[in-house]
Amino acid sequence: MEKVVVRRGGLADVSQIAAIHCSDLEDNLWYRFPEGKRVAAKRVSELTLYERWLNGGSWMSEELCAIYLNNLLLNGHMPLVAELDGKLVGELELFYGKENDGHLYAHIGVLQVHKEYQRRGIGTLLVQKAIITAKKRGASYLTVRPRDVVRDFYKKLGFAEWLKTVVFFAEAAPFVSGLTWKEDTTIFNKQKFWPFIMGYEQSSAQIWQIFHVNQFALPEFTREPIHTGLVSGRGKEVVAIFYPHVYFGDMANVYAWSNKGPNKEDLWTMLTLAYQFGYDKVRSLLTEDKYEGLKDSCSLAEIERQEIFRLNLKEREIYEMAGFVC
Ligand SMILES: CC(C)(COP(=O)(O)OP(=O)(O)OC[C@H]1O[C@@H](n2cnc3c(N)ncnc32)[C@H](O)[C@@H]1OP(=O)(O)O)[C@@H](O)C(=O)NCCC(=O)NCCS
Repeated sequence: MEKVVVRRGGLADVSQIAAIHCSDLEDNLWYRFPEGKRVAAKRVSELTLYERWLNGGSWMSEELCAIYLNNLLLNGHMPLVAELDGKLVGELELFYGKENDGHLYAHIGVLQVHKEYQRRGIGTLLVQKAIITAKKRGASYLTVRPRDVVRDFYKKLGFAEWLKTVVFFAEAAPFVSGLTWKEDTTIFNKQKFWPFIMGYEQSSAQIWQIFHVNQFALPEFTREPIHTGLVSGRGKEVVAIFYPHVYFGDMANVYAWSNKGPNKEDLWTMLTLAYQFGYDKVRSLLTEDKYEGLKDSCSLAEIERQEIFRLNLKEREIYEMAGFVC
């Protein structure tokens, strides 16, 4: 019987955080990606850092995990770690930012319990601590996009369905003329309260952190046609990120923030810019109501539906917890 303690994570925890995430690799297998094909690797040492990233993101190597965590902390977000008898067994990441209604939100962007320690209450404890932490920081809501198998896990903790979204793709083409694109990597800081109109697959704050702030000096990343900036034209301004899809390099993931919209002109604008940046296709998300209104005029093809859950922190009583025994 040992006590689990949840605390703020830091750079000294990087190797153990990476180990927690690597423990959950599907079938315990690492893959290489020669010429875009997925091939099982004989040894982890065969993989480049970029290939390790392709296996599951920034937590797949200590090097990238350190950069990632450093950026997370420098930007005011919060990693929480669960420690059992001196060993880290779980990690949760909270991303803070104002969302479309102007309230401060905390978003659970990552929750991972070490494979050997799952179903022992550690995930529950991490989320409970996240609720306390977010409420103390002054957030009004806590959100998460749960994988299908953990919807009930979050419901038991008080979350409810909130935002329904549709993931779609569309062909890039020169629909609109007269656009001015200004590449500007500081733009979001200047415009940070603009509503997030396209790409809500995680909170606005997390998307910005992952796709803009979190860059790596690896050749594979610096070569990629990543664009961040401000497009203006037709009396409107939109801040946007174009980020190549992990496996389909000809497809841009598009995220956009603006005071108004989205309407069909905004979509055409994004499809035009993607075309100008050399992409063939665009992948993004719209809320269900917007998608239904725009799918025909913009020839959008549905990929899947997603849902964000939300917990109202204003209505939630909190009490400090000391840890627990598992
Ligand atoms: C999901 C996860 C964080 C839950 O953490 P955990 O410590 O294993 O969960 P808990 O022991 O606190 O679970 C509490 C309850 O949630 C439910 N639950 C948890 N994980 C579940 C899963 N994978 N499938 C179905 N139900 C699950 C169960 O009802 C469980 O109670 P039970 O064990 O008595 O049946 C963990 O399993 C994990 O890291 N999974 C892989 C990554 C992941 O899916 N992260 C969530 C991203 S949104």
